Amino acid sequence: MSHALFEPFRLRGVEIRNRIWVPPMCTFAVDAQDGVPTDWHLMHLGSLARGGAGAVIVEATGVVPEGRISPQDLGLWNDEQRDVFRRVTDLIHSQGAVAAIQLAHAGRKGSTWRGWGERKAGTVPREHGGWTPLGASPIAFPGLAVPVELDLEGIRFIVEAFASSARRAVDAGFDVLELHGAHGYLLHQFLSPLSNHRQDGYGGSLGNRARLLLEVVDAVRAEVGEAVPVIVRLSATDWTEGGLTPDDTEQIVLWLKDRGVDMIDVSTGGNVANAAIPVGPGYQLPFAERIRSNTGVPVAAVGMIDQPYQAEQIVATGQADVVLVGRESLRDPNFTIRAADELRYELPYKPAQYERAYV
Ligand code: FNR
Repeated sequence: MSHALFEPFRLRGVEIRNRIWVPPMCTFAVDAQDGVPTDWHLMHLGSLARGGAGAVIVEATGVVPEGRISPQDLGLWNDEQRDVFRRVTDLIHSQGAVAAIQLAHAGRKGSTWRGWGERKAGTVPREHGGWTPLGASPIAFPGLAVPVELDLEGIRFIVEAFASSARRAVDAGFDVLELHGAHGYLLHQFLSPLSNHRQDGYGGSLGNRARLLLEVVDAVRAEVGEAVPVIVRLSATDWTEGGLTPDDTEQIVLWLKDRGVDMIDVSTGGNVANAAIPVGPGYQLPFAERIRSNTGVPVAAVGMIDQPYQAEQIVATGQADVVLVGRESLRDPNFTIRAADELRYELPYKPAQYERAYV
């Protein structure tokens, strides 16, 4: 019986104890609308690290206030946030996991109601902490406000904001950075011809549409230096006629590879409202496998990978380097411990306090 899931993985100088990581998942749990982590985040993320994950990727975190999805999202645009994030990374490290964070700008999908609680439709009004969303072009995501098209100064500001958030993330103790280029958020809005109708150097050809993402990658790398691994999450397809395709994505990954991006986190969709997505076990895996074999860049696979044998097969057969287990980690933060148990692997970092739960 192979135990590929439990082999360490290295990104630059960072050793990660296994191949089961937790993907970013927004919890909309900031109470004061100031982006600062709360005790909720500490407990939630700490329990995922304690449960044996190799790396815990903190939820989409806004690089500027209007880069958040909802007013209750985390943010990393000031020093107060950085200093509180230090508690999060210390706790994740104390449980033996690597601390990663997804830096994000929501663009035209910003200022939405959080994913639970009120569950109202439309854009959050200013009096409830909302803002006017920004986008590549003045094209609304269905049901949301028409975004203001970013001008060149606005674009420059966002590139710099990603870099300074990356600096603060590293100063807060994060080992690995993930840039959110997927799910219809700002960087994906530029990549996709469905949301980018610009006539300037950031629109038109694929090279132009990828310019913002590549500038962000370069600015982040220049800011944090060579030691810090950088992952990019991409939506490999828009699942819609006229949208971003797997061929486009492969080209984008080659450009990212040239720029020293260390891994692609391969997701799909999110930029249009009613795409027909064939959701099922491992449904995004073929896109990850294709990127890995055609570009040679390490990939993380995600999407309904929630069974230990399934996860083991993906890594053992080289379909992906790492699996990200999302909702199943919410249901069972000890998924990694359970997987080791089911796969008959003696996990060296199973908490001794829980020994009797697994006999
Ligand atoms: C998500 N997802 C997500 N993706 C992302 O890139 N940034 C984020 O902040 C979030 N937030 C988020 C919140 C919640 C509650 C869920 C369930 C999902 C998507 C997530 O990272 C993952 O790609 C999907 O959940 C698919 O994986 P699973 O859940 O099938 O393992």
